[in-house]
Amino acid sequence: MSDDKSPRPAAQQPTAEVSEAQIAVHWPEEAYFPPPPQFIAQANLTDPDIFARFSLDKFPECFKEFADLLDWYKYWETTLDTSNPPFWRWFVGGRINACYNCVDRHLPKYRNKTAIHFVPEPEHEAVHHLTYQELYVRVNELAALLRDFCGLKAGDRVTLHMPMVAELPVTMLACARLGVIHSQVFSGFSGKACGDRIADSESRVLITMDAYYRGGKLLDHKEKADIAVDEAAKAGHQVDKVLIWQRHPGQYSSATTPVEGRDVLLNERLRQYRGQRVAPVSLPAEAPLFLMYTSGTTGRPKGCQHSVGGYLAYVAWTSKNIQDIHPEDVYWCMADIGWITGHSYIVYGPLALAASSVVYEGVPTHPDPGRPWRIAEELDVNIFHTSPTAIRALRRDGPDEPTKYHHHFKHMTTVGEPIEPEVWKWYHKVVGKGAAVIVDTWWQTETGGFLCSTVPGIHPMKPGSAGPAIPGIHPVIYDDEGQELPSGSGMAGNICIRNPWPGAFQTIWKDPERYVRQYYSRYCRDPQSKDWRDWPYLAGDGAMQAADGYYRILGRIDDVINVAGHRLGTKEIESAALLVPEVVEAAVVPVSDDVKGKVPDLYVSLKPGLVPSAAIADKVAAAVVDEIGAIARPRRVVVVPDMPKTRSGKIMRRVLAAISNGQDPGDVSTLANPEIVGSIRDLAK
Ligand code: WTA
Repeated sequence: MSDDKSPRPAAQQPTAEVSEAQIAVHWPEEAYFPPPPQFIAQANLTDPDIFARFSLDKFPECFKEFADLLDWYKYWETTLDTSNPPFWRWFVGGRINACYNCVDRHLPKYRNKTAIHFVPEPEHEAVHHLTYQELYVRVNELAALLRDFCGLKAGDRVTLHMPMVAELPVTMLACARLGVIHSQVFSGFSGKACGDRIADSESRVLITMDAYYRGGKLLDHKEKADIAVDEAAKAGHQVDKVLIWQRHPGQYSSATTPVEGRDVLLNERLRQYRGQRVAPVSLPAEAPLFLMYTSGTTGRPKGCQHSVGGYLAYVAWTSKNIQDIHPEDVYWCMADIGWITGHSYIVYGPLALAASSVVYEGVPTHPDPGRPWRIAEELDVNIFHTSPTAIRALRRDGPDEPTKYHHHFKHMTTVGEPIEPEVWKWYHKVVGKGAAVIVDTWWQTETGGFLCSTVPGIHPMKPGSAGPAIPGIHPVIYDDEGQELPSGSGMAGNICIRNPWPGAFQTIWKDPERYVRQYYSRYCRDPQSKDWRDWPYLAGDGAMQAADGYYRILGRIDDVINVAGHRLGTKEIESAALLVPEVVEAAVVPVSDDVKGKVPDLYVSLKPGLVPSAAIADKVAAAVVDEIGAIARPRRVVVVPDMPKTRSGKIMRRVLAAISNGQDPGDVSTLANPEIVGSIRDLAK
């Protein structure tokens, strides 16, 4: 690549933190864990020849196998159209409907099987089991209302701001049935954030719920809808209708007054559509299915646009072969449907395969950290899927809780962040009782589905490593100058994917230029080229590939601390801190230093009941030095009562970095625990 042909976007300009791609990786290689034979005996995919069938010379026709998992109204003519890079078009000429594939086609065989187990947060409220037939009825009635009462048609956008309730997949599928593009905004986001997304997507209809339970409280959610509509209006966009589901049907659980002519109580209005059926709309494969807003390194959130055909084929195949979902499985992904993980691996993937998918309303540790294991025991969940953040919280609050329950997982997933080997081993031994296979799946909102993961019936697991690329995905690691790092070199660089794949997003809504700039320009060999080989996809993560071909994800390119010219992955330092038995969470942030450029400050929280002491802090610093070297020695270790966290549970390192650097942490009101910021500031003085 020559730099003059492809100027770097501002967000990708090398900074002090990212100037060298080639660094030593200090996190030692872990030993393998073989998948249990009982797992392999029943696994969907055990044939190692799969990788030969998906080699680059079989590209793109190999992806027919993905699309063949679906029912098409009309078979496609062109597997991949690359005539306008990097706007790839998959399965061109094909016609399909996502709702039909997730609901209607299962009825002959699975009519009375549970599609969705809805688990309310209050434990005294009964679990609601929605069969495929009931799902079909509810989706049809809502689709009739959306079409006939709201006047919605294929290509229109609708914003959903819904909590984790069964009505959320019902609403998504009703939209998909009509070809209406849904844009679900995470319920924990503020009314303002929702309003921005309504305006950007130009949704005339907002669908919400009056209230929902979280952390033991019934939260008024409709009040956010009023703010969202006002915010959208300020941005010059009018919302005509707000459709409100009732958390307790027949009862209005919000303090706000419904706005005459705008607000509609859905449960009441739906009575007029009782028994109605709406034929699924046959859509071109590359019609948009949904938008998912996500934040980039800079700028406002971008609406990632995903297609019906390519996306659904991708999530169905990966659900079958990486999640190992069979129709008889009870599958629980504890993510929120407001994020991509929930779209792909709670709703579309599992339902395309006729599995039973669990939707849990509340906080995993409510009312106590035994809750997830009670739910798993009661529903006979055999596939469990969650994030390192949740695993760490459950380990902190109830390290022995899983041993008290008779759940049995055949398969467990971790996603969203690198997982420290110590945490992985607890997940494996205590949660999985040593009997479950684990997949560490690396992917992104933009990619629709998994990119790297072990194939659970084929590869051994290696704690802390995502594994090789999945069949059909061909990664490459470049250094900052655009040189390809030799495969298996163990050197860190910027991970890219060489080839297009069906799950990849199609564009950024209303901002195709930013799509090209942010994801495809950095390592593009020739902007005029019509050859996909010249357009590697830039994921924005640092990664290294070990000699065995396994990838380890080191975090975002900007999650790197450059100490005296040594680039250190924040996760490596945190993982070292977690080796200290007292420590339950660790977060490292860069602090400016005149001599070294940056030095790490390390924040840790302790297991319940332990008293912070200088001795523990010293032990943590010693562990970091032991594991990585004196270069990584934290400037100081601050023992805090809890980390500042987003509503989705991610540690806000930005806030800690501001405190460490003596800066204003800015608006912290959207944190799950804003009150913690003051106490941390006092401790870090
Ligand atoms: C990070 C979530 C390490 C990564 C599906 C990526 C991971 C970002 C992993 C995307 C993993 C995701 N190991 N890091 N298994 N999975 N990430 O868009 O930095 O919310 O770029 O999608 O999460 O986050 P997003």
